Amino acid sequence: MDTKDYVARDDKYVTPIYASLPIVFEKSEGVWMWDIEGKKYLDFVSAYSAVSFGHLNPRIKKALLNQLERTDIQARAFRHDKLGEYAEMLCKITGMDQMIPMNTGAEAVETGLKAARRWGNMVKKIPDGKQHIIVCKGNFHGRTTTIVGFSSDAEYRRGFGPFDGGFSHIPFGDIAALEKAITPNTCAFLVEPLQGEGGIHVAPKGYLKQAQDLCKKNNILLLLDEVQTGMGRTGKNFCYQHEIDKPDGLMLGKALGGGIYPVSAFVARKDVMDVMDPGSHGSTFGGNAIASAIAIETIKILQEEKLTERSAEMGDYLMKKLRALNSPLIKDIRGLGLLIGMEINTKIVSTDDICKRLLKKGIISKDTHGTVVRFSPPLTITKEEVNFAVQCVTETLRELEAEKVSAT
Ligand SMILES: Cc1ncc(COP(=O)(O)O)c(C=O)c1O
Repeated sequence: MDTKDYVARDDKYVTPIYASLPIVFEKSEGVWMWDIEGKKYLDFVSAYSAVSFGHLNPRIKKALLNQLERTDIQARAFRHDKLGEYAEMLCKITGMDQMIPMNTGAEAVETGLKAARRWGNMVKKIPDGKQHIIVCKGNFHGRTTTIVGFSSDAEYRRGFGPFDGGFSHIPFGDIAALEKAITPNTCAFLVEPLQGEGGIHVAPKGYLKQAQDLCKKNNILLLLDEVQTGMGRTGKNFCYQHEIDKPDGLMLGKALGGGIYPVSAFVARKDVMDVMDPGSHGSTFGGNAIASAIAIETIKILQEEKLTERSAEMGDYLMKKLRALNSPLIKDIRGLGLLIGMEINTKIVSTDDICKRLLKKGIISKDTHGTVVRFSPPLTITKEEVNFAVQCVTETLRELEAEKVSAT
């Protein structure tokens, strides 16, 4: 079978909820991936931060294989020897009291929303059904019906209603808007400390701290979605550490599973978790022994291999290199650590064109919202590998400048 055959079979049997490119990967290691034709690519996206520790990281692979020698999955009605260790490590590294293990990022967010609404009802005494949660425009928290119901992107909602309500939107980074949106029934403010899917938007300096102060003053939970920004991605273990000590609740996913297994969690303060009792929530696979063994190893790697520092250092380096490109095709370069967005002057060139040309040169990047090219390589990347990517970006932009700018 060649690429064409794989694509044809996919297109026949896989519902096209992603507009996947006609490249079929079959092998990966570290920051590299190979397609079935043997072409090698530098992964500058890391499955949207899921592969932060590198493809098939040997320590994570070993943790998985060791666990498979012992046990796999058991009903949560029983206990196993790994979950407590994982939970303790996650609580300690985030400064939280308890965790609820789930599988995907969206599930971690759903868990936080349920806990916040119940806390609003039981602790804050908001009448049940009146709990109000504030979210930001341009958010991305996943794809379940509740979550797309409060997306500000009409395309994510189209045809999927009715939605349950109880959410209101404010502009990201606007503290006055947050203050104005608060009502006596507000139980939580849910926000990404850095909007990833929304276009790599870094909150203005002081925003998170001011939001935390407002939440404290009004007895509102500050819930941070760090599914994409957590685990060292932005140059801190968790992005909130750029500004605050800790939120009231935190959603993690992606890199927590080491790029090998779906692992997510909602971690929070004890009084928030105290409202959740047996039967209030659950997941067959959440926190199983394999997931727990992997998460234990990812947390250890984060702590022992200084990947957070590396993310800060390499991110800084990449950002400087990209800023020095000084291309008329670039409108802005922004981000934190190794989560960087290159905003494109789409009047001259499309982000899709740039990503496709980069792919031809062997760089996997991602168009975000048609305006930004996202770079989020594994945190294990070396300076030489960053230089190779920058060289490919430079060549791509210069080619396009020659074609598009001199032609106008
Ligand atoms: C900030 C954020 N939250 C939640 C999610 C959803 O995660 P998942 O696709 O694992 O459900 C994503 C995915 O990109 C995300 O970036």
